[in-house]
Order: sequence, then structure tokens, then C-alpha cells
Amino acid sequence: MSPETSSFDWNDLTFAAYSDDLTDDQRWSTWDATERLNRGPEPWPDWLVTSSAAVDTDLGVLKSGKEADVFLLERAVPDDPGQSCLLAAKRYRGTDHRLFHRDTGYTEGRQIRSTVATRAMADRKSTFGKAMRAGLWVNAEWSHLKRLHVAGVPVPYPVQVEGNEILMEFISDGDSGAPRLHQLRPLRSELESLYGQLVDAMRTMAGLGFVHGDLSPYNILVADASTPEPRLVIIDVPQLVDLASNPNAVDFLHRDCTNMANWFTAKGRPVDAGGLLADLLGHAW
Ligand SMILES: Nc1ncnc2c1ncn2[C@@H]1O[C@H](COP(=O)(O)OP(=O)(O)OP(=O)(O)O)[C@@H](O)[C@H]1O
Ligand SMILES: [Mg+2]
Repeated sequence: MSPETSSFDWNDLTFAAYSDDLTDDQRWSTWDATERLNRGPEPWPDWLVTSSAAVDTDLGVLKSGKEADVFLLERAVPDDPGQSCLLAAKRYRGTDHRLFHRDTGYTEGRQIRSTVATRAMADRKSTFGKAMRAGLWVNAEWSHLKRLHVAGVPVPYPVQVEGNEILMEFISDGDSGAPRLHQLRPLRSELESLYGQLVDAMRTMAGLGFVHGDLSPYNILVADASTPEPRLVIIDVPQLVDLASNPNAVDFLHRDCTNMANWFTAKGRPVDAGGLLADLLGHAW
């Protein structure tokens, strides 16, 4: 048989040859296939692996939340120890039976133009409606992470978004995941530094016209917690509230301040929630 008449498909061969190498919990890095707009802000950090030869390996669930599961992922070029990074993959559950508890209150003032989508989302039993709501939260968290990162608020670097999955910087403490603030018993000097970092971050957010809306010691990670310079990192930002358009925004900000003031006060660094709220409102716009 001459090569011209051959039904042999070189693409198939190539795929088979490679796919044999991938195990069930691996895939080719999704970086190349992701549109530019769905990748994180440039400059891309030095640690980020962008090679098309990289493979993503699922290393397991970090935590299952109410609306999403967070997985640990390694993105690495096989046989090249210099090209390897860990990422957190937050995957929203689109068609889960549970309703999105954050739908109420937070989304007031947000515009959804399509009436078909609005009606579908209002129908809490519709699968399409649930998928739509999940999609809105994924896109909201992605764009908020980018805005906050660019403005200098300490959030995980947003790597890329694809479907229901957001990939972001994995926040660590040495070789393991960073603890959440509520798990820590900081020394007095560490408390002072962490409080300073918190106020800076909240002031920057207020300056952007944003309220976190679900801020608590559970949605704050402490990177390098076991070193002399722990760094506070704010996570879980899909529900960010706009101070200008959401009529509940100041109430949400008050609740955020109260959650944080209670924790710092209980740990021995008294904070007055009302005073913090007034300070932040003074920084708004
Ligand atoms: N970038 C990250 N680096 C390290 N760990 C992370 C990262 N993002 C999330 N986690 C881990 O996953 C947990 C859940 O993340 P997140 O709060 O964003 O999701 P969630 O679904 O809203 O969870 P919940 O319903 O518990 O609030 C965090 O408390 C943290 O332990
Ligand atoms: Mg959370």
C-alpha cells in the first residue's frame, strides 16, 4: 500500500503513544488550550509552569466545601525537575442537589441581561438553572481574584479558568497546605503583624469599592505560618459585594468587621468592630 492510499492516521498514533503515558488522574496541562482572557494577569509569576509539555496530576481533595471542592494539582514537565508547581483547583459543582446559599442578598444590584437566564435561575429545580448559577459564581470568583491581585490585595495568584474550574496559586506552609487563620494560636507580635496585614487588605478592598462579604478566620489562609514572617492570604471571593450598588453592602462589611474583631479580641489583641467599620468606610472610594 502506498503512503497516499493508506488509511493510517498519524494523529491517532501520536495520541495513543502519549495517552499510554497518562494515568487516570492525569491530563495534559490545560494552559495552552485556555484562551488568553481566561489566563491570569501578566507578568506570569516565575514559578508558574506554562510549557505545553506539562502534565497536570490530581493529587487529591484538599477540602470539600458547600458549593465547590478544592483539589491539589501538580503541573509539571515529566523528567524536568526545574518545571513543576503546585496549584489549587477549585471546582464548582454545577448540578449538585444543594442550592447555592450565597444567592440571597449578595447578588442584589448585579445585572443579568438575558431574561431566559434570569428565569432559568429563578427556577430552583431546573438543572440548567443550577448550572447557570454555578457558572455565574465561577466567573465572579475569577474576575474578583484578578481585580484583587492586580490591586495588590493578598489573594492566591489566579492562574486560569476553564468551565467550572479555577486554578490558582497553592498557598502553602513549607511542604503542606497553609492553615486557616482560625487554626492558629499566634504570638502577640505575630497577631500585631497579621492585624496590620488584614487592615491593609480591607482598606485596599474598600478603596476599590468592594466588600468581601464572607470574611472570617475560615476564609483567610496564613502562608508560611511556621516561619517568623507569616503572610495573610484572603480566599473565597465569589460573593464580593459592590459598595455602590448593593443596598446590603454596609451590613455585609459590618459583619466582616465583627467576625474579624471577635477573633483578634479573643486571641488577646482587642479590636473594636465599629471603629474598624468607620475606618474602612473612610477609605471607600
Ligand atoms: N489557594 C489555595 N491554597 C491552599 N488551600 C486552599 C486554596 N484555596 C482553598 N484552599 C483550601 O480549601 C478550603 C475551601 O476553599 P474555599 O473557602 O475557597 O471554598 P468553599 O467551597 O467556599 O468552602 P467553604 O464552603 O468551606 O467556605 C480552604 O479553607 C482551604 O483550606
Ligand atoms: Mg470558604
